[in-house]
Amino acid sequence: MTQAPPSDIPAPMEGHGAYNRSSRVQAVGIAATLPLLEQAARTVPISSGVEPVVIADYGSSQGHNSLAPIDAAIRALRERLGPIRTIWVVHTDLPDNDFSALFHTLEADPASYLRRDAAAFTSAVGRSFYGQILPTDSVTLGWSSWAVQWLSRRPAAIPDHVQVAYSRHPAARAAYSRQAAADWETFLAWRGRELAPGGRLVVLTMALDESGEFGYRPLLEALYATLMELVEDGSISHEEVFRMAIPTVGRSQADLLAPFVAKGSFAGLSAELLEVFSGEDRFGSDFERDGDSGAFGARWAAFCRASVFPTLASSLDGGRDGPRAVLLDERLEKGVGAAPQPMTIPLARMLLAKSRS
Ligand SMILES: C[S@@+](CC[C@H](N)C(=O)[O-])C[C@H]1O[C@@H](n2cnc3c(N)ncnc32)[C@H](O)[C@@H]1O
Repeated sequence: MTQAPPSDIPAPMEGHGAYNRSSRVQAVGIAATLPLLEQAARTVPISSGVEPVVIADYGSSQGHNSLAPIDAAIRALRERLGPIRTIWVVHTDLPDNDFSALFHTLEADPASYLRRDAAAFTSAVGRSFYGQILPTDSVTLGWSSWAVQWLSRRPAAIPDHVQVAYSRHPAARAAYSRQAAADWETFLAWRGRELAPGGRLVVLTMALDESGEFGYRPLLEALYATLMELVEDGSISHEEVFRMAIPTVGRSQADLLAPFVAKGSFAGLSAELLEVFSGEDRFGSDFERDGDSGAFGARWAAFCRASVFPTLASSLDGGRDGPRAVLLDERLEKGVGAAPQPMTIPLARMLLAKSRS
């Protein structure tokens, strides 16, 4: 197997369907955003022709968490379209995403929209959403959950952490903040191009709460402390840990609205609704019920492993497919699972609409 060199581009989620199995926290935030997507599906303008109605899912990963929102959107559209009109769903993600797991999920999961709707069809695009990836004016309804917090690249090293929200380094914080602003505009600009006139886009993303808190603090502190232990015992080098960063950001309400401030719209899009809210700590709720601290820690560790360990491992000299990545994963999983605590989960849900003209 060829080993990927250290890269500034974020790695996809853990493969072999692991993200599908370890993304229950994300599913709770999605459930809280479904009403917005259903509202969009009920109100979006639809042409009276016979051409397919396109739903795009930006940053689908392995698909399990896309099933509920896409099914909800299809059901709401069907009330307007009837059973015959083609609905074409396009799932998109980075080229290295586990698309096999996505297609198996779509085929086999009992909750798949393909099982419920004979006139719904599926396809996938393996390209970054920081470019145009679908035809101009083609998308009726866009959906993106837990994806746009991932930046297009690591803009700088974070000398004192792996998550910039917990860094005290002004230059790193400034570089991430600039990249976050530029990436958000880029994402919006291309979606503005791809949406059909009047089309709607619903975005769910990690956010900063009113006090500027990013959340997940105990988890990220344990993660960084474990990395420092690994440096101390010689398992990883100073250079490797210096390269490690999770290029995700929480955006504040003001950050998310910034592109719209000057003209009231941006790239033909207007921000119809934006809410910052607190996601439910599903694992904390499980713990309150069952009192099993081992399971509590293991669940948060699996969450972390599925979403961010591949990106950290890509900074190892042997890359994320090298033998040392296995050791890194094991040690980090043990470290972050050791002393679980309740977590705050700031999220933002947003409805955007493209102008009709
Ligand atoms: C945390 S997962 C979210 C998956 C799913 N939407 C959910 O809500 O559970 C984030 C996904 O966004 C994808 N992603 C990150 N940056 C991306 C980019 N530039 N273009 C397309 N997908 C991207 C990742 O590969 C990953 O599959």
